Amino acid sequence: MISWLLAFATALAAASAQRPLHQPQHAHHGGSRGSASAGCGINHSSGYNYQTSPGHNFSIVSDNISRYYSVQVPDGYVASKAYPLIFDYHGNTDTASDQHNNSAYFNYTQDYLVVYPQGLNRHWEGPSYAVKGINDTLFTTDLLDHIKTDYCIDPSRVYASGKSNGGGFVDLLACSDAGDEFAAFAMASAALYNDTSLDICTKRRAIMESHGNIDTVISPYGGPGSGGDLPDILEWVSWWGQRDCGADATPVYDTTPAGYNITTYSCGDWDDVVVHYQLYNLGHCWPSSTGTNFDALHISETQNCTGDRDLAYTPVVLDFFSKWTLESAPHNKESW
Ligand SMILES: *[C@@H]1O[C@H](CO)[C@@H](O)[C@H](O)[C@H]1NC(C)=O
Ligand SMILES: *[C@@H]1O[C@H](CO)[C@@H](O)[C@H](O)[C@H]1NC(C)=O
Ligand SMILES: *[C@@H]1O[C@H](CO)[C@@H](O)[C@H](O)[C@H]1NC(C)=O
Ligand SMILES: *[C@@H]1O[C@H](CO)[C@@H](O)[C@H](O)[C@H]1NC(C)=O
Ligand SMILES: *[C@@H]1O[C@H](CO)[C@@H](O)[C@H](O)[C@H]1NC(C)=O
Ligand SMILES: *[C@@H]1O[C@H](CO)[C@@H](O)[C@H](O)[C@H]1NC(C)=O
Ligand SMILES: *[C@@H]1O[C@H](CO)[C@@H](O)[C@H](O)[C@H]1NC(C)=O
Ligand SMILES: *[C@@H]1O[C@H](CO)[C@@H](O)[C@H](O)[C@H]1NC(C)=O
Ligand SMILES: *[C@@H]1O[C@H](CO)[C@@H](O)[C@H](O)[C@H]1NC(C)=O
Repeated sequence: MISWLLAFATALAAASAQRPLHQPQHAHHGGSRGSASAGCGINHSSGYNYQTSPGHNFSIVSDNISRYYSVQVPDGYVASKAYPLIFDYHGNTDTASDQHNNSAYFNYTQDYLVVYPQGLNRHWEGPSYAVKGINDTLFTTDLLDHIKTDYCIDPSRVYASGKSNGGGFVDLLACSDAGDEFAAFAMASAALYNDTSLDICTKRRAIMESHGNIDTVISPYGGPGSGGDLPDILEWVSWWGQRDCGADATPVYDTTPAGYNITTYSCGDWDDVVVHYQLYNLGHCWPSSTGTNFDALHISETQNCTGDRDLAYTPVVLDFFSKWTLESAPHNKESW
């Protein structure tokens, strides 16, 4: 029964992948915003719609390349209800399924549809180790268009999250026009290989990041990484603060939590529009208070993914996302 459903879903996905993917630019905007998407009315089985046997995952063609993804469909999925959507990007050398177990959104909410795109050769655009010429912002736009035709989505509540290379890609997405379709962005241990400094990135966005002090894969203090040069994380946080709240923006610090501190920027109607968690005893990990997520089970002991259980990041990210819609979130930069 389950495999029949999956095969049927795959056939549907394959059929819709035949449609032209590069819609004219104006087709992305306007009419549908705030209302439900074209996929409303199509039933889907709940759970993780993914199968490891070849050919039974989902795919689309983007930039003339087959690209793969998996989907977490909420329990009791109602085909007529417009769901908020999260795109969740895995780390370098990981898979969509690894990230599914890493953020583990399914353990905290049944209110969101979550899509896990698969990076080509398990990398995302940005670092020197990524596949040359691959355009993952275009893949994101194409996949988002496709998901809206297949599932019932609220287009004003689309979000992006990611770990490491996937987190760095979320920053690149936030700085791109493709990011205009997303209301808020969250990253863990972001590998910020694309330069998104003040002169280069001109977007205003709702941004959250977490970083461990003992992260030896992507140092919070910047310097050379395996895929290029990295910025100092707190300086990068200040770039988002200044883009959103102006050159004079000042951060607010909360040093009261045990195990981490929090840096926030707020201005006007935008309360805590930039949020950063710095964890004192954590390495290159998506923070987990249970010590059972993918990183805790698979990342080397030196990164302390199992030991430091001070922060459950996933519910924090969900709270952050729930505050923002395309209408309430900062959008393209205006002059100060
Ligand atoms: C979808 O599921 C609902 C509830 O089970 C059912 O009433 C409806 O006929 C189904 N729609 C389609 C198109 O299969
Ligand atoms: C999905 O299936 C295709 C075709 O069999 C395979 O090449 C690809 O590696 C699979 N992707 C994932 C993420 O398993
Ligand atoms: C798409 O890729 C195939 C091979 O994968 C190639 O034969 C074809 O020319 C490409 N089409 C375009 C429009 O680039
Ligand atoms: C995800 O977690 C489930 C349940 O623990 C496990 O069966 C599955 O193998 C895990 N998948 C990956 C890719 O780690
Ligand atoms: C991100 O960096 C990669 C590698 O340097 C580069 O190929 C790509 O064009 C950059 N993307 C953007 C949008 O700048
Ligand atoms: C990716 O594609 C988008 C849409 O066509 C384009 O605007 C962007 O410049 C491309 N990125 C790169 C790095 O080529
Ligand atoms: C928060 O923690 C980081 C890393 O330990 C540290 O650099 C920063 O000064 C701390 N912030 C405050 C306000 O104490
Ligand atoms: C989900 O929650 C259960 C119960 O708390 C826990 O045993 C499991 O490890 C969690 N799964 C992940 C991937 O975090
Ligand atoms: C791991 O984190 C725990 C809890 O914060 C801390 O007590 C321990 O010293 C840390 N271990 C390392 C090696 O940093």
